Amino acid sequence: MTVRSSGTHPIHIEQDVVLARQLARKLATECGMRLIDLTKLVTAVSELARNTMVYGGGGDMDWQIIDENPRTGLRLTFRDEGPGIPDVKLAMTDGWTSGSGLGLGLTGAKRLVDDFELDTAPGKGTRVTITRWT
Ligand SMILES: Nc1ncnc2c1ncn2[C@@H]1O[C@H](COP(=O)(O)OP(=O)(O)O)[C@@H](O)[C@H]1O
Ligand SMILES: [Mg+2]
Repeated sequence: MTVRSSGTHPIHIEQDVVLARQLARKLATECGMRLIDLTKLVTAVSELARNTMVYGGGGDMDWQIIDENPRTGLRLTFRDEGPGIPDVKLAMTDGWTSGSGLGLGLTGAKRLVDDFELDTAPGKGTRVTITRWT
């Protein structure tokens, strides 16, 4: 596996979420991702970036374009140093929200990508890594 290119995009305000979507769209296009997969990925980015902003108090989206012959992937990590998620199982339940959302962001994002990893602990922040392969 080789990392072809990488970078970091900050997520603090609403406009950053819009820019994160645009960046993901651009990167997925560079990867040669099919439109249907690109659309799924961008939807996942919306949800995760918004969680980073709303629940995590802001953070970053790290991105990597990965070559792993014969496939290419886009890997995105949403990370914050917010309160973390005390009960991951609950948070990964369809319809559960601690706020006023629909509670479908994490579970929805998981379904829309190939790999989904959630690493969090109370007081340690949250890190969600997703990968979509071409
Ligand atoms: N980055 C985060 N930091 C802390 N808590 C989070 C984070 N992302 C998600 N959560 C918790 O997981 C719950 C479920 O998230 P999600 O499925 O996106 O639903 P919603 O955003 O509608 O609440 C949130 O209500 C919140 O309690
Ligand atoms: Mg959400």
